[in-house]
Amino acid sequence: MLVEKYSVCGGNRLYGEINISGAKNAAVAIIPATVLVDGPCRIENVPKISDVTALLTIMREFGANIKLINDSTIEIDCSKIRNTKAPYELIRKIRASYYLIGALLGRYRCAEVGMPGGCDFGVRPIDQHVKGFESLGAKVDIKNGFIHATAENGLKGTNVYLDIVSVGATINIMLASVLASGQTIIENAAKEPHIVDVANFLNSMGADVKGAGTDVIKVRGVPTLKGGSYAIIPDQIEAGTFMAAVTATGGDILIKNIIPKHLECITAKLSEMGAIIEEFDDSIRVRRDGALNRVNIKTLPYPGFPTDMQPQLVAALILANGTSIVTESVWENRYRYIDELKRMGAKIQVDGKVAIIEGVQKLTGAPVRAWDLRAGAAMIIAGLTAHGYTEIEDVLHIERGYENIVEKFASLGADIKRFECPDEEEIAEPLKA
Ligand code: EPZ
Repeated sequence: MLVEKYSVCGGNRLYGEINISGAKNAAVAIIPATVLVDGPCRIENVPKISDVTALLTIMREFGANIKLINDSTIEIDCSKIRNTKAPYELIRKIRASYYLIGALLGRYRCAEVGMPGGCDFGVRPIDQHVKGFESLGAKVDIKNGFIHATAENGLKGTNVYLDIVSVGATINIMLASVLASGQTIIENAAKEPHIVDVANFLNSMGADVKGAGTDVIKVRGVPTLKGGSYAIIPDQIEAGTFMAAVTATGGDILIKNIIPKHLECITAKLSEMGAIIEEFDDSIRVRRDGALNRVNIKTLPYPGFPTDMQPQLVAALILANGTSIVTESVWENRYRYIDELKRMGAKIQVDGKVAIIEGVQKLTGAPVRAWDLRAGAAMIIAGLTAHGYTEIEDVLHIERGYENIVEKFASLGADIKRFECPDEEEIAEPLKA
């Protein structure tokens, strides 16, 4: 069997311009949300990433009618969905499959979805999701690797105070409550841009969701949602990834199709590192040709510094002048990728939630692996600044959430290629015999 890898030859500064795709974390929630709609939903600016492909495959399994209108526009009609059991072998591939629980429960009063998969950085519980569903009157059991949620008497509006700020739980409770009877208030809600995007999508289909983007979201249940059309927001983490890359390599790039407000925290931090950043209505110019400065970072829920930018910033800080301190306060163990960076000569100490990055003069290319999509992006950034070749394996993780990342970096002058080679495991087989 052949596996895909990336080969990166470091040393090129980045110049030119790229377009940002639709936001992965909005798309993977809006697509399941179409289950709630009794009619066709036309969704624009859908990113071409494997998480979206996987979700559309699951929706087809349910009986959804899905049409590809053009390169980034799809039409999904769930009015004829016939089953509400999501197949485990598909579900385990992506974390966001759990949004199907809220959507199926909200529309059909029952859902049976395999426990979600996704990135591997510590425990990823769903207790807050379950708390929300039960508050709405559902019975939730987890058995045989499936989550079973039922509400024979329907869902009734309620007040839910989230014990922890959770993007997934905020969205899932919103999905389950838009067709419930009465009002649901979600307190201590997450405020990420993709939460606002999901609320705006639901409202464009006839829902009544207010307060998304604040920590109190009020949902007034409506009888049905009718079809309509909606365009997904640009991906602020994809944009941030390219901003971090040019800050690390040096150069001058224009990043188009973005919403500057969603990037404020990333812009502020990269400016501290020495990037010169100019904001326009829907694009941002990022240059760096002076010193690369050390900084301290603490990841926090939006509008704090996003955890999904933590690996990319650590990679950009390896060659900075001085020692940087990064604190990961959202996930319990999102530093597994650092061992890969050490193989390239990075000097990083990890102690619990804190990573201490001591700036070095030089990185050298090495064979590394992508532990998850953001860690994979960090490997690309490190490879772009290293001497020699870096070979990245397990790149399918990266392609779960980044559309055409090799082509986009190559268009900026990066020496990066995707290639296929025999799977080492298979090569090893004959030797065992
Ligand atoms: C979403 O994950 C994103 N994924 C993640 O992005 C992102 O890192 C995360 O939000 C935080 O911004 C998608 O949107 C598909 P959470 P999610 O619920 O919803 C704890 C990427 O790279 N928690 O906000 O799963 C949890 O353990 C991915 O694009 C509970 O304790 O994250 C974590 O410590 C990686 N109980 C914290 O809350 C729960 O029921 C935040 O998790 C739920 C969460």
